[in-house]
Amino acid sequence: MTREHLLGIDDLTADEVTTILDTAAGLADVAARPIKKVPVLRGRTVCNLFYEDSTRTRISFELAAKRLSADVLNFSARGSSVSKGESLKDTALTLEAMGVDAIVIRHSMSGAPRQLTRWVGAKVVNAGDGAHQHPTQALLDLYTIRAHLGRIEGLRVAVCGDIEHSRVARSLVQALTLLGAEVTLVGPPTLLPLHAATWGVTVSHDLDAVLPKLDVLYLLRVQSERMHRQHFPSAREYARIWGVDRDRMARLPEGAIVLHPGPMNRGVEVSADVADAHARVITDQVRNGIAVRMAVLYLLLGGEEAA
Ligand code: ASP
Ligand code: CP
Repeated sequence: MTREHLLGIDDLTADEVTTILDTAAGLADVAARPIKKVPVLRGRTVCNLFYEDSTRTRISFELAAKRLSADVLNFSARGSSVSKGESLKDTALTLEAMGVDAIVIRHSMSGAPRQLTRWVGAKVVNAGDGAHQHPTQALLDLYTIRAHLGRIEGLRVAVCGDIEHSRVARSLVQALTLLGAEVTLVGPPTLLPLHAATWGVTVSHDLDAVLPKLDVLYLLRVQSERMHRQHFPSAREYARIWGVDRDRMARLPEGAIVLHPGPMNRGVEVSADVADAHARVITDQVRNGIAVRMAVLYLLLGGEEAA
């Protein structure tokens, strides 16, 4: 990867995506070693700069950096001088002055990671900006799909639920179409972006009709924290029409896999029994996220110099 930063999937070519996935595959076995570390980023400092809550992205970036032997700083806006009015720019300049080599940023504002690149010399990795992009999520999803089904090209994938507020959907659709998958977006009209048809996908409002034709069903959480008006009558109504339960799962072809980026809302987009029955692939997504983030940090910070 020749990029300075990882801001979105739209910045990557198909070859660069494949290089990241292949590099991740090479690094995945570090997790199986008694000492889960390689020295490739020794002496480098990675800062996780999180202005929004996170469980898996923040922790897996931390583990990824540590497994590459980098020093890691964790900044969360809560409990920091952000509460005293400090701006993103001044916070970034403060980190820069402390000598960080890479900043992994999550922010509620779309475009915040790109803005950061104008202020600091460090490499910037987008860990989710507003409803815009979440590139490492898309990469770990592709890695997981490839590991389970052997390829991406030609697969039939449905991304289901709250597409409108989802940075995961935007990144994933770009990554899947770049590598030649056929994507269908399924959800209520109120949760599908008006311009979704221009994404190079099929749009459907009939989940039951889509399910029998799939290799991959990708479920999304209803992101109430980004909603400023009511998009459906109630969670119960949503679960009835769009939630995936055991009866709906019976419509999926044998061998199809179900993914979810997490966190899941059991009883809304997915029933508890389906979540448990498909836990293996969903936990694989989390596990693979470490290797994929190791690959991204390695390719941005280590490159040939460390190889
Ligand atoms: N964790 C993912 C994100 O931050 C998906 C979600 O929150 O539903 O975008
Ligand atoms: N999938 C994902 O980004 O999870 P977190 O919000 O917990 O980081």
